[in-house]
Amino acid sequence: MKQAVARAALEYVVEGRIIGVGTGSTARLFIEELATLKDRIAGAVASSEDTRQRLEGHGIRVFDLNEITDMPVYIDGADEITPEMHMIKGGGGALTREKIVSAVAGKFICIVDGTKVVDYLGRFPLPVEVIPMASAYVARELVKMGGSPAVREGFVTDNGNLILDVKGLQILDPVNFETRLNQIAGVVTNGLFANRPADVCLIGTPEGVRMMTAD
Ligand code: 5RP
Repeated sequence: MKQAVARAALEYVVEGRIIGVGTGSTARLFIEELATLKDRIAGAVASSEDTRQRLEGHGIRVFDLNEITDMPVYIDGADEITPEMHMIKGGGGALTREKIVSAVAGKFICIVDGTKVVDYLGRFPLPVEVIPMASAYVARELVKMGGSPAVREGFVTDNGNLILDVKGLQILDPVNFETRLNQIAGVVTNGLFANRPADVCLIGTPEGVRMMTAD
């Protein structure tokens, strides 16, 4: 099902332009598909070092985000997505660069299998990237907000930071919760993508690929 949505996402690739590319197992399948079109795009912006290496391995030119001013499309997976197109991302730990690259993109195309579609966010532990010296403080603040945070063992982000995975949340107002989490000193990024939701979600199901939009 991930393979099917990765292939279906090629429809959204704009010829002659730069595309933003996400991180994770679904994004990896998309990179394989994108390689078949590599002569028809100007290049890509990567949301992680892993993605950058894979794109370059296929001979796709990877641009630094600071080199470009606009990018029509960003394509990435998600850990959870609601019918409102709000997402939890960061299971692969790339949430900060994913949020930055998707902020620049005109459209966010989310590619998931059907198990990722949920009524509300929070059963998947919410990743929060933190400056290492702030991890204990941020964890205490997250407990006050109703969560049970744990440092992701043996993991350092591409930005040299730690991830707190927060269990026990039932996130019914993701737009405000994303903003509140950003106010905690030491938080770099949280894995809620609600203020900038996906524009289109391609969902892999046993019956085929289904499209969901916010409208
Ligand atoms: C990485 C992410 C991924 O998009 C998310 O974890 C989904 O991964 P997968 O496609 O492997 O299920 O946010 O930081």
